[in-house]
Order: sequence, then structure tokens, then C-alpha cells
Amino acid sequence: MIKSIKIAPSILSADFGKLNQEIAEVEPYCDWIHVDVMDGHFVPNITIGPVIVKSIKSKLPLDCHLMIENPEKYIEAFVSSGADHITIHQETCDDLLKIIKQIKDLKVKAGVSINPATSLKTIKHVIDKVDLVLIMSVNPGFGGQKFMLEVLEKISELRAQNTDLDIVVDGGINEETAKLAVKAGANVLVAGSYIFGAKDRCSAIAKLKNVKI
Ligand code: DX5
Ligand code: ZN
Repeated sequence: MIKSIKIAPSILSADFGKLNQEIAEVEPYCDWIHVDVMDGHFVPNITIGPVIVKSIKSKLPLDCHLMIENPEKYIEAFVSSGADHITIHQETCDDLLKIIKQIKDLKVKAGVSINPATSLKTIKHVIDKVDLVLIMSVNPGFGGQKFMLEVLEKISELRAQNTDLDIVVDGGINEETAKLAVKAGANVLVAGSYIFGAKDRCSAIAKLKNVKI
């Protein structure tokens, strides 16, 4: 059965000067709000921390994507600031199982993410412990990059073995790449520049949501 498509706008491409207004504009049409947390170490960019997460007003789940080293030190702060999902990167964790348990013990959803160059094998042992797997389709760090087609194979392989899992694809999503990602088996589309850069954001979201494969 094909899972219904969820849309998670990435606020990285929103205007932070009026963040809650930007979120209010898109949230009636979306499913999660995607929050990109970057530390300037794991990725070459610095974005937001728990203080900003706390200031977000949204009825939707806050899907926090931690692109940071030593995520275990900050998970609790993000959860107490309102995060509903915490996704960590395989590349930053020595003991993935332990960190996933730490997230679950805080009663929020746990996700694991891998970069385009990281193999699915590295997360095989945790797939049945997480609520979502986030497949990066660009090298993490910035919005507005080009979708890397080579990740589609990982999405298909993951979907073939996990019918119920939320498979999130993040980076370079637009009408065309959304089609390819959904066809491969993704059911959650993160999109930043495509949504916040559109003149008509509502119709951009509708195009992603109604993607025909
Ligand atoms: C990249 C972030 C993405 C990014 C997506 O490191 O994880 O969530 O904001 O932006 P677009 O959709 O513009 O590629
Ligand atoms: Zn992200």
C-alpha cells in the first residue's frame, strides 16, 4: 500500500524576521514543520538552537533535524523547547542505539538520518527502533541545492524492506524530484526553497502533495 504523502516545509528558507507569520501561512496545508539545526562543525553552517524552537508557534509537530556533533548533549533542551521529533545523524553518533533510546525515553519520535555518501548498512541495526529515516538528498548545510539522483536507490531499498516506516527525503525537492522520490518509496517530503521561494506557497505545497507517480 502506498503511504499518504506528508509535507514538511523547512523553515531554513523562511524569513526569520517574521518566522511565526511564515509558519502560519503554510501550516494549514502541511503535516510537520521541519527545523534544521546546524552547528558549524558537522556542517559548514550555523542556524538555530532551542531558544528559537521555543519561540515557534505551530499546531503541527516540530520535526527537528539535528545536524550537530554530540547530539546527546542537546536532545533534552530541544525536547523541552517543544521538539516533537528528533532526528540525529548516523555520522555524528558512536552509539546510535543509546542515543535513540535517549530520544524515546523523552517520549518524542526518533529519527535517524544519513548523508548522500553514507550507506544504508550503517543504520540497519536501528531501523526497527526508529519512527523515521531521513535520507539526505543533498550534502547537508544549505538550502537551495540540487537533488542528488543517486540517493533514489537507497530509498527504494529501504522501502522494499520497510512498508510502514516514514521515509523522509530532504534536499532539492521540487515538483520533479518529488515525483522521483515518491516513486522510489519516500512518503515525507521536506522542502525549503521550493515552498518558501514560491510566489504561491499554497499551490507549491499542493503540487508536492498531489504528486502523481
Ligand atoms: C539541508 C537541510 C534541508 C534544507 C532543504 O541541510 O537539511 O532541510 O533546508 O532545503 P531545500 O528544500 O531548499 O533543498
Ligand atoms: Zn533538514
